[in-house]
Amino acid sequence: MSEKVFAVAIDGPAGAGKSTIAKSLSKKLGVIYVDTGAMYRAMALYLIREGVSASDAAAISSKCNTADISIRFENGEQQVVLNGENVNGFIRTEEVGNMASSSSPNPDVRKKLVELQRKLASEKSVVMDGRDIGTVVLPDAKVKIYLTASSAVRAKRRYDELTAKGETCDLAKIEADIIERDHRDMTREISPLKQADDAVLVDTSDMTIDEVENRLMEIVRSKTE
Ligand code: DC
Repeated sequence: MSEKVFAVAIDGPAGAGKSTIAKSLSKKLGVIYVDTGAMYRAMALYLIREGVSASDAAAISSKCNTADISIRFENGEQQVVLNGENVNGFIRTEEVGNMASSSSPNPDVRKKLVELQRKLASEKSVVMDGRDIGTVVLPDAKVKIYLTASSAVRAKRRYDELTAKGETCDLAKIEADIIERDHRDMTREISPLKQADDAVLVDTSDMTIDEVENRLMEIVRSKTE
């Protein structure tokens, strides 16, 4: 990382509120927000379109070479570009999320996307969120935050989001899925989700968004002043 740029790394499990908080923090700091999960999702979309099976590691590795993934910003919002096509509108489905979860442990997928993430952070100041930002992607980040919440709270947030959209869903099933995904993310061999030794833990279970935002600004100030 060059001396002129700085990075805030935010890691944590699915549903902890990382993207909401990272987005607002980046606006307050006047830097770009890089959503690394969206890159893994774009890769997953490519694999689905190419008909690759989630369990075929060799095919995933080989297809990696023909996926050109980059990002650009429109009105301050990150857009993921896959082989020249803006795929932001296609990556938020359950199918793509599941494929991202199965394909992201692949070392070739990770190598390719980590390179892209490091390049972005070397050129511009960033708030970057993901699972391995503070531990692997940007180990020298000035500020590292590990954002989490209990599985029950994360499940309830997801349930409220889905019911607000008019979808019927089962709270117990959502929580079971979250627990399973946490387990997969935390126990995979390469870049498992874990708190970096020098990351500040913020448990948002009993906090409002405003409280989390204030806490994060406090942490950023304390690390940068
Ligand atoms: O945060 P998300 O749900 O958009 O992430 C999609 C998948 O990508 C998720 O299963 C974990 C994986 N991921 C990862 O392995 N490393 C990252 N830095 C970000 C996401």
